[in-house]
Amino acid sequence: MEHHPEEIDEVIASLPKERGFLAPNLCLYQNFWFPVTVLPNVITFQRHFRAKDNDIVLASQPKAGTTWLKALVFSIVNRRYCDISNTPLLTSNPHELVPFLEFTLYANNTKPNLEDFPEPRIFSTHLPYSCLPESVKRSNCRIVYICRNPLDTVVSSWHFFKSPVRSENQPERSMEEHFETFCDGKTGFGPFWDQTVGYWKESLEEPHKVLFLKCEDLTENVVAQVKKVAEFVGLPFSTGEEEAGVIQGIAETCSLRKLKDLEVNKSGKFMPNFENRSYFRKGEVGDWANSFSPPMVARLHSIMEEKMSPFGLEF
Ligand code: A3P
Repeated sequence: MEHHPEEIDEVIASLPKERGFLAPNLCLYQNFWFPVTVLPNVITFQRHFRAKDNDIVLASQPKAGTTWLKALVFSIVNRRYCDISNTPLLTSNPHELVPFLEFTLYANNTKPNLEDFPEPRIFSTHLPYSCLPESVKRSNCRIVYICRNPLDTVVSSWHFFKSPVRSENQPERSMEEHFETFCDGKTGFGPFWDQTVGYWKESLEEPHKVLFLKCEDLTENVVAQVKKVAEFVGLPFSTGEEEAGVIQGIAETCSLRKLKDLEVNKSGKFMPNFENRSYFRKGEVGDWANSFSPPMVARLHSIMEEKMSPFGLEF
C-alpha cells in the first residue's frame, strides 16, 4: 500500500482522543490508546514492515522491563561475535542497540531500509499483539514479551513521567491522577490488561511464536530466564558455555546496578526528551507498597481480578 501522510493525518483526526497518562494526548486506534505523536509512525510501521523468519521482536508496555530485556537479548544473540567483557552495552544504551520500531525506526513517517540490518534482526515495540503488522504474525519470527505487575508499572511510569521526559509546559500530575488514568485504561499502548492478556493468550496458543516473561521472574532468577530466552530464540547455551559462566556474565553485565553506573547511561539521550538515565531507577519488586493507599490497592486488585485472572494471568 502507498504511503500517504495526509491520509494518515485524516485517519488520526477522526479518532477519539483523551488526555492520557504517559502522553498528553492519546488516540483510540484499533481498540488501544496510542500517543497521538507516535500514531503516524505506528501506521507506517503496520503498513510497511516486512518480517523475516529469523527476526526477534521484543514487545512490552512502557516501564515493564523493556530496557532490561533489550540488554539481555542483545547479549544472548551477540555472544558469538563479542565477549561480554567487551560488549557494545558498555558504550551504548540498550535502546540504541535494539531500536524501537515505532519510536525510532519509523520516526517522522520515514520508511527505513531494514534489509541490511545484521541478522537475526532484533527490534522492539510497544504495540499490542493485535496491532502488529500481519507479516510479524504470519512469519516464523519470534516475539518475546515482557510484562510486570501493574502496581509497580504505575509507580515506575509516574516517576518516568516526572523525570525530564515531561516537557516544561506540561503540568506535573499527582500519583493519584496517574493512578486514575491507569485504572481507566488510558495509558499509551493500553489498556494495560488488554495488551497483556493479548500476548498471554498468544503465548498459550502459539508457544513457539510468543514467549511471555514476567519482570518479577527475571528478578527472582535471571539466569533461568536467560536460558529460557536463549532456547526460545534458537540460540541455546552449550554445556561448555554454561560451565564457563557465560550466562552469569550476561546476567551480571545487564544488571541494573552495572548498567546504571555506565557513563553512557548516566548522560545523553537516545531520543529528544528521553534521557538515558531515566530508564534506570530502582527496579524493585513491590515498590508500589510505598506509594498507594489501601483503597487504591484494592481498586487495582479488583481490576486485575476482573480483567486478567479469568485468563489464568496472576501477579
Ligand atoms: P523502576 O522505575 O521501578 O525502577 P522500561 O525499561 O520498560 O522503561 O522499564 C523501566 C523499569 O525497569 C524501571 O523500573 C527501571 O529501573 C527498571 N530497569 C531498567 N533496567 C533494568 C535492569 N537492567 N535490571 C532491572 N531493572 C531494570
